[in-house]
This record gives sequence, structure tokens and C-alpha cells, in this order.
Amino acid sequence: MCGIVGYVGAQSALDVVMAGLRRLEYRGYDSAGVAVLADGGLATAKRAGKLVNLEKELGEHPLPAGTTGIGHTRWATHGGPTDANAHPHLDNAGRVAVVHNGIIENFAVLRAELTERGHALASETDTEVVAHLLAEEFSASADLAEAMRLVCRRLEGAFTLVAVHADEPDVVVGARRNSPLVVGVGEGETFLASDVAAFIAHTREAIELGQDQVVELRRDGVTVTGFDGSPAEVRAYHVDWDASAAEKGGYDYFMLKEIAEQPKAVADTLLGRIDPSGSLTLDEVRIGAAELREVDKVVIVACGTAFHAGLIAKYAIEHWTRIPCEVELASEFRYRDPILDGRSLVIAISQSGETMDTLMALRHAREQGSKVLAICNTNGSTIPRESDAVLYTHAGPEVAVASTKAFLTQLVACYLVALYLGQVRGTKWGDEIRDVIRDLSRISGAVDRVLETMEPVRELARSLAEKNTVLFLGRHVGYPVALEGALKLKELAYMHAEGFAAGELKHGPIALIEQDLPVVVIVPSPRGRSVLHDKIVSNIQEIRARGARTIVIAEEGDETVVPYADHLIRIPATPTLLQPLVSAVPLQVFACELATARGNEVDQPRNLAKSVTVE
Ligand code: G6P
Repeated sequence: MCGIVGYVGAQSALDVVMAGLRRLEYRGYDSAGVAVLADGGLATAKRAGKLVNLEKELGEHPLPAGTTGIGHTRWATHGGPTDANAHPHLDNAGRVAVVHNGIIENFAVLRAELTERGHALASETDTEVVAHLLAEEFSASADLAEAMRLVCRRLEGAFTLVAVHADEPDVVVGARRNSPLVVGVGEGETFLASDVAAFIAHTREAIELGQDQVVELRRDGVTVTGFDGSPAEVRAYHVDWDASAAEKGGYDYFMLKEIAEQPKAVADTLLGRIDPSGSLTLDEVRIGAAELREVDKVVIVACGTAFHAGLIAKYAIEHWTRIPCEVELASEFRYRDPILDGRSLVIAISQSGETMDTLMALRHAREQGSKVLAICNTNGSTIPRESDAVLYTHAGPEVAVASTKAFLTQLVACYLVALYLGQVRGTKWGDEIRDVIRDLSRISGAVDRVLETMEPVRELARSLAEKNTVLFLGRHVGYPVALEGALKLKELAYMHAEGFAAGELKHGPIALIEQDLPVVVIVPSPRGRSVLHDKIVSNIQEIRARGARTIVIAEEGDETVVPYADHLIRIPATPTLLQPLVSAVPLQVFACELATARGNEVDQPRNLAKSVTVE
């Protein structure tokens, strides 16, 4: 939520910062702005709307050349998406510029104090107070890093800040509390960004900043301290993907590319998890096997699509380990005083590793003495850093706001965690684990086959572009898939879409069915738990009898559904518990095509941001 870039080196800071912002636009696109240190002063440009508006502005009114600069792409919290509220924000003398990601909770008090001291604030944002406070502190110390440390100690809330001062022309200073910020170290140049994607074209050497740290960037290196000025320990790492991974690679949208990458993402997430003895391994486990044997409850916390992965994980965890498992929206979790103790295992699922609701839920869980295991796609992000163990998904960078490949890899990771628990607790035999692993290793090929047969799904989506509502039904693990199908359609096509447990339909939602209403039904395998299958076939008949247009997703060879399907989408035969890995894919394609047909922006849906770093 909000993308931040900072640069100091020998290149044109404006070019580097703008290229970085293009890579970070997924984090917010309400407005964008840049500031460059040039000719002994500060030059800024900012515009409401997407980055293209800023590019136009810079084309019409070019900034003077400079080699130190910062930039920002915004997802509005305090103050609407106007030019005035766009970042960077300046002090009254126009000597200091600051960009910010997060919320400064005590900004109203600070603003009142500043106004009293004669400062004139020009925007409605919480950020602007920081520019004025930095200017005050800098006038005393003439040291921007020191000024930043002093200011940060007075701020409450979650904030990542990056600032420059015209009197320190080769310095960029950043501060981090809760929201992400990474340093890139190049040859004679250094970078700061919310995400490594912003500087991956220049360097793959990164430094992870910790909580409550301030970094001073110069051309020849960086200095990191705590907010109190004490030297800080940092972790340097090499980014194991390159710039091409964050490009569209010939696809019209990132989402199409990311859907197509799913077979590889699934295979990569499975890779190297099984040792020669057949035992599963996690990436970083700071929870011992003895502790895992003591676990008497699993609680999964997540948001959005990751929450749906958690709902599916519950079926596997309870079936394979016999441990009770709750799944809760991270944003609700800590407010209801959940019952947790040292024997509860909390699993936090997050693609970005930065979702504030999930982070707060995991902190609450740790305060209660519970162990937390993170399932995450972003190396070194806050959620895995603050967890006791982590299993990384290997989806590669996901840029489209609507999650696709991350979802499938989260599912794979959840199955692995469930098997791991089954292994250490002895509720699953080695050969049973190997059978599931064998089934999982076939999923990549199955997803490939689904992707090859998607043209009729795209055609169907286009034919439904004028509809107002689509419903989704599923049972068992098909129910969370129905919720995910509906979420995708809401996010991308801005349609009224709802997912229901098929059995619940008759308790109310069936009243929504009217002539020609499209209803997508996810049908489980007829081979496994056939009762489940037969029940849903009855549900299809019930809605069809009331006029629904049935869009049925069913396994190849399942002939029982044929008479009741107005449209039939075939998926490869898959064991019941693993079916979401294939049944979710046509729903992603369906939503993407419907959004395109309705003229919506697939990668950047209105009002959304990919990484939600505010509560
Ligand atoms: C946002 C995104 C969703 C995502 C959710 C959780 O709402 O738009 O696509 O599922 O955040 O994100 P996370 O990074 O924690 O998985």
C-alpha cells in the first residue's frame, strides 16, 4: 500500500525513480510524485491519478537533472487522491521532501503543534507533518539521519518514510516501522524501495531493514541505526530472481502472465521439500518437533485470497492430523479475544508478508504465547521475520493486484504443512505422505492441461459481460473455491458475485435464483467421496429447475452432470482434497476475461492495492 523509491548514485535520479515507481504501481495508483535534488535546491512534480499523469506532467514541465531523488505512488488514506495530497510533501522553505507509506496516528496533535509554531500545512495528509518536523530538527543538527531518528521517536502508528534535504545533496534517508522498506546496494549507487522489484534492474544485492531502523544512503554505502541511534544489525541477501520476472513478458496483463506461470509456481513450491528418507522439510523452523506434537489447536489467519487458501487448508489439516483447526479473517482475529496458549499453532498466510491485519494478528498470537508459522511469498518480509517458522512459496513476484499464482502456491504450502504435522505427530504414515506428494507432483501438469482448454471459458465470460450478478456454489473444499471465484469477479469485473456452500442454498440464497442467472458450480470428484458429489448434482438440478443458467466445473469423465450443465468446464481428475488446485484456475481465467470484456483494468482494479499495509 503505497510504493516508495529512493536513489543516490551517478545516474539520472528521475529515470531510476520513475522506472522504480512503474514497478511499484501495484501498491497504489491514486497519485504519484517525485522529488530530485538539483542545482542546490529541490525540484518536485506530483499528479493525482495513475503514474501516466505524472509522466505527462514531466514531459510538459521537465525537472532539472539530479542524481539524488525519491518517488511515491499512493493508495490514499488521509486526504483524497488530489494533486495537493500527492507525495512528496515539503516543509515551508521547500528544502526537505518526504514520502510515506502507512498511517501516522498522532498526526492531528503534531499538526496542531506545528500550526501553533507558525508552520503552514498545505495538504490533508498525515505525512506532511513529517516534512515540517524534519525541517525543524535539521535546522538544529544539519544531519538528516539524526533529524529522522528524532522525528520517528515522536511518531505513532505504522510508517515507512523516505526523505531528502537540499542541504545534504548526496544523501537519502529512510525509516521503517511496520511497513516494508528494502535497501539495494549497487556499484557506486544505492537504492531504497518498498519492494526489490523497484531496483532489480540495477542490483540484486539487498539489505533487509528491521523494525524501528533508520538508514542513511550515500553513493558508497549505507549506515543503519535504531531510532535511538544505536548501530543496528542488518541482513544482506541476494535476490534470486531477475528483472524479467517482474515484466509482462509479452502478455497484455501481468495477471495473464501470472495465471500462465502457475504450473511452474506449483512445481517450484514443491521442489526440494522432501529429503531422501521421504521426510518433509520447511525453510526455517524454530518450532521443535516435540512442540508440534503438543499442539492441540491450529488457527489460521489471513486476508482476501490467502484467507480462502486457509479455509481449504482446514479440511486437509483436520483430516490428516485430527487437530482442530480454526480459520479466521486476520482483521477480526485479535478483536474478539481469541483463546490461545502455548499449545496453539497459528499459521499466518500472506503473499506479500506485509499485510497489516495479518501482522497484527500474528503479534497478538505471539503475545498469548502461541507459536506462529508463516506461509509467505516474499523473502525477508515482516510476517516471516516475526514468525517462529516459515515455509516460503516459490511463486516468484506477483504483480497483478488479484492474486492467482500466489493462491495456488499457498495451497501447496498448506498441504505440505498439514503433511508435516501429520508426519511429526505420526497421524500419517510415510507411504501415505508419499502418495499425497505424488498426487501433488502431478498437479503442475494438470494445471497445464486446464490452461490449454480455456478458450470456451473465455468465450463464455465475454457472453456474460452484460450480466449484473454471478453466483458460485461449492461443497467441502469446493466451497472456499466458490468464495474465491466470487472474490475474483468482484475485484476485477466489479460485478455482484457471491459464493455459497451449496447445501446452504436452500436456507435462503436460493431466493436469488431467477431466469438465466449464471451460477457456477464446482463439482467434486465422483470417485472419492461420492455422497458429496451426488449431493451437489442434486443442488444443480434444484437451481436449474428455477431457471438458473448452470456453469458446471466437473472432472473429466463425470457424465452424471452432463444433462444439467448449460456450460460444462472440464478439469483433470484430482483427489478430492487437492481439487482446488485445478478448479480455481478456470475461475481466474473467467474473471480476467470478464473484466477485459467490461473494459476494466485487469492489473489495477479500482480502489484496491496489492499490499495492504494499513489496518
Ligand atoms: C489485498 C489483495 C488481495 C490479497 C490480500 C492479502 O487485499 O488485493 O489480492 O489476497 O490483500 O494479501 P497478502 O499479501 O497478505 O496475501
